[in-house]
Amino acid sequence: MTKKLILDLDAGIDDAMALAYALASPEVELIGITTVFGNVPCAQSMTNCRALLELLGAPDVPVVAGADRALAATEPYTTMVDVHGANGLGGVKLPAPRTAAEGVLDACATAAVSFLLDAARRYGENLIYVPTGPLTNLARALALDAQAVARIGAITFMGGALTVPGNVTPGAEANIANDPEAADAVVRSSVPVTMVGLDVTHQTILPAAEIERWRALGTPAGEAFAAIVGYYSQFYLTHQGHLGGCALHDPLAVAAAIDTTLIGTLGINLKVDVAGPFRGRTVGDAARLRDVCKTAQVALTVDAPRFVARFCERLTCALA
Ligand code: RIB
Ligand code: CA
Repeated sequence: MTKKLILDLDAGIDDAMALAYALASPEVELIGITTVFGNVPCAQSMTNCRALLELLGAPDVPVVAGADRALAATEPYTTMVDVHGANGLGGVKLPAPRTAAEGVLDACATAAVSFLLDAARRYGENLIYVPTGPLTNLARALALDAQAVARIGAITFMGGALTVPGNVTPGAEANIANDPEAADAVVRSSVPVTMVGLDVTHQTILPAAEIERWRALGTPAGEAFAAIVGYYSQFYLTHQGHLGGCALHDPLAVAAAIDTTLIGTLGINLKVDVAGPFRGRTVGDAARLRDVCKTAQVALTVDAPRFVARFCERLTCALA
């Protein structure tokens, strides 16, 4: 049976690639996107998701308003992150979306939480949920109805770093750093999660030639993605040249959620540091180290050649 998929996006550039990958994956049906702040404010994430779905020929997929700020924040998040450019899509202007996202932005992420909980109750085991931004919407859903969340077949998030340094501070990866309290609530809950963090995403790099292949498709989507991802790739070459190109963070999380054989994981009970110089760090919880039941599976190995080949193949289909 085709699994149902919900993405939770802070729609920047690798989120856009993750979305295209999901749409080109025959194993899953994308039933909706919940949105969150992170690479961009949540309102911009909503606009980007709608515009991308229309560009990619999937205008009927709903986009739902999510958290506009971190759990502990008193004001909406307004930062635009350099890595993703002026609008989160490398400054590339897509045609204005014809339809609006659903729900109203609020601090409690009411619309996104209802959408996720309804889908969890309806599809249970057959639902896959992939957050690729801060874990605020998931933390809010857990606080409201942990039993419904526990029915979800697989929750695979992009974020964190267990064996490698962070990308925001030496300890913290961006998605976790943007809402450490939310991430801590998620990994301390009894709900099983898979973490796809920098340990593996920094091993999966987009070959630069692929961007030119997209441009050469001559389609609106191919040309737009070449420009958008070209910006991202250049940012990586300038600021993280040792990687040799841009990392496929969010697409890897989607791919691993769909096909778990792409990654090798370590079972561990995690916590997130919420105070001190290591705020935002994902680390083993010493207090639960000996618990037989491990609630997190942390990806530490990845079959990078197999994933990158599959990514290139599926993106070409999505952009053709
Ligand atoms: O650290 C990488 C992650 O932060 C990705 O999800 C990227 O889109 C940003 O949200
Ligand atoms: Ca993201």
